[in-house]
Amino acid sequence: MEFAMGKRQGDGAARMLCLGALVVLCFVSQVTKAQAATLPNCSYPGVFSFGDSLSDVGNSIAAFPEQFAHAELDPNGHIFPQHAADRFTDGKLLVDFLAFGVRRRPIYPVLRGTAGDFTYGTCFAAYGGPARTVKVWIKDNGFNTPFSLDVQYQWYERYKIRVWFYESPVFNPPGRLNQSLPKLATFNESLFTVWAGYHDYFFSLYDKILTVAETPKIVPDVVQAIEDHLVKIMTPVVYTPPATPSMIMPTAKTILVVNLPPLGCIPAMLTLFGTPTAKYDNYGCLSALNLISIAHNTLLETKIIALRAKFPAAKILYGDAYSVYTDILKDPKSYNATAPLQACCGVGGAYNFNTNVTCGHAGIVANKFVNLTMSLPAMPCADPSAHLSWDGIHTSNTFNKAAATAFLTGKHITPAGGLNCSPDFTFWEARS
Ligand SMILES: *[C@@H]1O[C@H](CO)[C@@H](O)[C@H](O)[C@H]1NC(C)=O
Ligand SMILES: *[C@@H]1O[C@H](CO)[C@@H](O)[C@H](O)[C@H]1NC(C)=O
Ligand SMILES: *[C@@H]1O[C@H](CO)[C@@H](O)[C@H](O)[C@H]1NC(C)=O
Ligand SMILES: *[C@@H]1O[C@H](CO)[C@@H](O)[C@H](O)[C@H]1NC(C)=O
Ligand SMILES: *[C@@H]1O[C@H](CO)[C@@H](O)[C@H](O)[C@H]1NC(C)=O
Ligand SMILES: *[C@@H]1O[C@H](CO)[C@@H](O)[C@H](O)[C@H]1NC(C)=O
Repeated sequence: MEFAMGKRQGDGAARMLCLGALVVLCFVSQVTKAQAATLPNCSYPGVFSFGDSLSDVGNSIAAFPEQFAHAELDPNGHIFPQHAADRFTDGKLLVDFLAFGVRRRPIYPVLRGTAGDFTYGTCFAAYGGPARTVKVWIKDNGFNTPFSLDVQYQWYERYKIRVWFYESPVFNPPGRLNQSLPKLATFNESLFTVWAGYHDYFFSLYDKILTVAETPKIVPDVVQAIEDHLVKIMTPVVYTPPATPSMIMPTAKTILVVNLPPLGCIPAMLTLFGTPTAKYDNYGCLSALNLISIAHNTLLETKIIALRAKFPAAKILYGDAYSVYTDILKDPKSYNATAPLQACCGVGGAYNFNTNVTCGHAGIVANKFVNLTMSLPAMPCADPSAHLSWDGIHTSNTFNKAAATAFLTGKHITPAGGLNCSPDFTFWEARS
């Protein structure tokens, strides 16, 4: 066996080392190394994201500048390379890490006309956007927006038509309007991300629309909305432009669907629903809330397995954010996440969170003036990187980085191997 392997690899030194009792182990490690070395660099032409505030790089603030004014103010996004970042986290979102990892470029929000560069994809996600279709919406209603997945899909459909328009030599003769857009023919080779549903559960609980006991009842509707969205982006649509033959619009071929982190470990949830008699798990999270995430994730994974069979030409990946979270909670020190259950940007209580004064605002808590709009170095917490939750609601740069690193290196992702390409970590820690 060792002879055949040595011949195949043409590596005399490796063959020598492989002799003796360690032959089998050595063989395995050689194969793994050879496979890792042969993975091509990730080179997705673009990244397109759908979802809520966990993935929005600035659509909702573009639509509602007053409602979300604090998204562009300190300390939100304070370590994002292009601060003001318009993101609800301290640094990069999961989709930012993925975009940097597979393409070395950030993506910009589709609604922001003055955004940098759309050549490498765009973001359709929106803070306040649930998976389930919004039918009634009231302006100034907290974190909510009408930008549910169905609206994000409409933006996406029209976007493709506009891209087609700018590419058309008939409607846009050479030299007339030069836009930084992706090529329509590359949409099917781009990476799509869908991380939705968090808003549906979190704000049903936060706004006291549902009790903890009632919340699992919405799981089938939330997962159905995500499934409907996946089906729509994978299904070819015929477009008939004016005075031009019909054409089939490109479909999404590589989609990463991300599941829910454990709701019971989120500081706002721990603050609002923790009681002396509540059941906590080994990591200090609320068991009943974690069960909501588990119910969602179990159903979502079942649906994805069925969709893989129905759409064999697509690669539908399932990213397990829940198990990334619990992996860190099992061993927080190895991630330097020494305050895993406390918010960084927040104030008071066991979890550093108070609904009266949230990150990006100032006000009175326990008769004391609190200002949560400080910039560096007067940060709201000593070491933001020690936290999995940025503001008690949204995941932090530390968590997002851990999740993206896992997914890009084939961990906590199915099918096995994940994206099967070698990511680029050049801009992983970048800040300026
Ligand atoms: C892959 O990326 C690395 C680092 O960015 C680069 O040095 C290398 O040349 C790339 N390989 C190919 C085949 O493009
Ligand atoms: C559009 O801009 C790109 C990049 O600046 C340039 O390469 C291309 O020639 C321009 N095309 C037209 C039609 O002006
Ligand atoms: C994507 O579409 C282009 C143009 O229609 C085609 O040449 C290419 O093979 C497609 N790629 C995939 C992965 O389907
Ligand atoms: C944890 O912090 C140490 C010291 O600053 C650093 O060397 C190490 O890379 C960090 N680990 C992670 C996972 O960030
Ligand atoms: C929030 O403010 C209200 C009004 O001042 C007060 O009654 C309530 O106790 C505060 N809640 C918390 C959690 O501090
Ligand atoms: C909070 O602190 C920032 C930064 O020092 C300052 O600009 C802002 O005016 C303060 N807010 C209030 C309400 O005092």
